[in-house]
Amino acid sequence: MLLNLPRRVKLIDVGPRDGLQNEKQPVSAAIKIELVQRLQAAGLKEIEVTSFVSPKWVPQMADNAEVMAGIARMEGVRYSVLTPNIKGFESALLSKPDEVVVFGAASEAFSQKNINCSIAESIERFAPVVKAARDAGIAVRGAMSCTVGCPYEGDVAPERVAYLAGLMKSIGIQRVDVADTIGVGTPRKVQAAMEATLKHYALNDVSGHFHDTYGQALANTLATLEMGVWNFQSSIAGLGGCPYAKGATGNVATEDVVYMMQGMGIDTGVDLDALIDAGAFISQALGRPPNSLVARAILNKRAG
Ligand code: HMG
Ligand code: MG
Repeated sequence: MLLNLPRRVKLIDVGPRDGLQNEKQPVSAAIKIELVQRLQAAGLKEIEVTSFVSPKWVPQMADNAEVMAGIARMEGVRYSVLTPNIKGFESALLSKPDEVVVFGAASEAFSQKNINCSIAESIERFAPVVKAARDAGIAVRGAMSCTVGCPYEGDVAPERVAYLAGLMKSIGIQRVDVADTIGVGTPRKVQAAMEATLKHYALNDVSGHFHDTYGQALANTLATLEMGVWNFQSSIAGLGGCPYAKGATGNVATEDVVYMMQGMGIDTGVDLDALIDAGAFISQALGRPPNSLVARAILNKRAG
């Protein structure tokens, strides 16, 4: 018997950003805009739309401003964007995001590969972004990559996660994502990473961001749900991967998380049928089936 589970969870769909950033084929701004709109219509209240990063590093996100401008925004929906430095923040500001996301790593090697600087340097770059955002009334989230494993360094100790969380807290980052970037984590390991983060952040201010490379993301979601965590990031149709984590696949599929929560009587505020349609839309645009067993099962059932 699972006790004290949250009665509701909030899902942040990162599909338009984390899901599409690594997509090799061109995806038009119009498709990205429609995806965001379908997600909000399905009931998602937080959507990570795009990144204001170097277009040389991540070409797929080069249409950031166009996508942000094209969305017919809905009241009560939070639109977030990635801003690794003040240059990214200044460009993002014109698009009026509700929240900006700075992203650091618990492993030094990943920090270097992903954002071209050390962990300490990244905090120095983030600090002015955090200040400028807070001054402008924009919320700030911190993504913490490689909290259980790193593609370059292997296992990552919880102490490294606590260290990064403490640094993020010290510069005023309001909430953080505990990310298993390469999807190697298993339940006890992600619980340890989460526990390390909870030394610095309250339960309401942490979220789980689990990639599904080894098929553990739903189990890891449940494991942290049992700790009382109620914010989770997921990706429509299981899209995605990180350009600097070769071989890593997408986040846990939003459809899979919603199905599991519904089955457990936990409110997500999301309409599963409309969500399946959103996943089918982007999967069709990409020319491949959704990377979600729930989506495939429901689509097969509909077809039959
Ligand atoms: P840098 O080389 O250290 O930056 O890159 P720089 O300040 O030396 O500038 C170099 C060039 O980049 C210059 O252009 C700048 O203008 C330009 P040039 O003179 O050579 O033409 N530049 C920018 N252009 C647009 N927007 C900017 C920007 N900043 C500099 N904001 C930087 C630093 C972070 C920009 C670079 O390393 C970069 O863009 N990296 C991409 C990182 C990325 O997007 N990774 C994927 C997202 S993170 C992720 O997926 C993990 C997550 O999901 C959680 C998880 O699963 O772990 C969040
Ligand atoms: Mg990610």
